Amino acid sequence: MSDNAVLIQDLVKKFGDFTAVNGINLNIKKGEIFGLLGPNGAGKSTTINMILGLIAPTSGKILINGTDIQKDPRSARKQIGIVTQETVVEPELTAEQNLMIFGKLYHIPEPELQKDIDFALKLADLESFRHSYAGTFSGGMKRRLETAKSLMHAPELILLDEPTTGLDIQNRAKIWDLLRNINQKQNVTILMTTQYLEEADQLCDRIGIIDHGKLIALGTPAELRQKIGVSSVIEITAEREDIPKVAKAFEKVGLDAKVLNNKVTALGGSNATKKIEMLVKEITAMKIQIHNISMHEPTIDDVFLKLTGSELRDTEGAYSTGAKGTFMMGRR
Ligand SMILES: Nc1ncnc2c1ncn2[C@@H]1O[C@H](COP(=O)(O)OP(=O)(O)OP(=O)(O)O)[C@@H](O)[C@H]1O
Ligand SMILES: [Mg+2]
Repeated sequence: MSDNAVLIQDLVKKFGDFTAVNGINLNIKKGEIFGLLGPNGAGKSTTINMILGLIAPTSGKILINGTDIQKDPRSARKQIGIVTQETVVEPELTAEQNLMIFGKLYHIPEPELQKDIDFALKLADLESFRHSYAGTFSGGMKRRLETAKSLMHAPELILLDEPTTGLDIQNRAKIWDLLRNINQKQNVTILMTTQYLEEADQLCDRIGIIDHGKLIALGTPAELRQKIGVSSVIEITAEREDIPKVAKAFEKVGLDAKVLNNKVTALGGSNATKKIEMLVKEITAMKIQIHNISMHEPTIDDVFLKLTGSELRDTEGAYSTGAKGTFMMGRR
């Protein structure tokens, strides 16, 4: 059998004149946690839905563990567990009943089914909610139940479409634990999509950055950070009206400034500390009030900024799906 859990070749999906996925080549190795990272409308769900065989590619090929999803969808799909972007637990059933129904759909025999349910509830940290109705669960609990459910038929690969979007940080961390657990203890390969840079950075072995249907970067978090090739990033925030002047100060000290709302950033290079001193001097002379000044190791956020000239939305807080490019700046 193949070393690749998923192999994607020249994948294209057009909706009428619009190209949602534009020639993606990608392999997901067995045993890894792979994160497909991209903003709203990048083509993440479209790609996932093609891997699942739910929508047909316009062209290109997808192999699941060596099996062509289009030629043998049944056999390919049997190997996959799925957590969709919309939560689909049955609210009027208990946690246990939700898992039971799913197990029966997969014809898991009765004695095993009970064991699998116990195991799934434990994994999802929902043992004490076994008999509670799923409709009463928080968003995070529903997500955990769904993730556990996707493992009931013991797949080797699970696909999760934005498993943590809209959850608060505690609930996100619980999902991360759950995914790490599944990956390490059950040896399940994970392909997930996310809009959270921080999540991809912390959780994933490899990351593919997707934008406008194209894979624009691929590598480990460390490799992607190296891509921007500098030791540190300088960031200054100030009143919005002062930002053009702050940007000028950056230019004056020889830094290539990027402006995002009330923030100016630049790659600091090897003498970033010295540059900060110079910046503070310049900006103080302009009598501008700095809100915050910081220097940090490059994150995937910086990689994304460097690659696309725009920033992914903030990693915290609510957002709405489907509104294409709502948080993108200065590009669309
Ligand atoms: N059935 C469809 N018909 C027409 N256009 C579609 C269809 N499905 C998706 N699209 C478009 O294709 C693009 C990619 O959509 P997709 O849902 O794959 O993005 P995404 O990366 O999953 O975004 P999000 O983070 O919002 O879930 C979007 O511009 C979307 O409007
Ligand atoms: Mg999506």
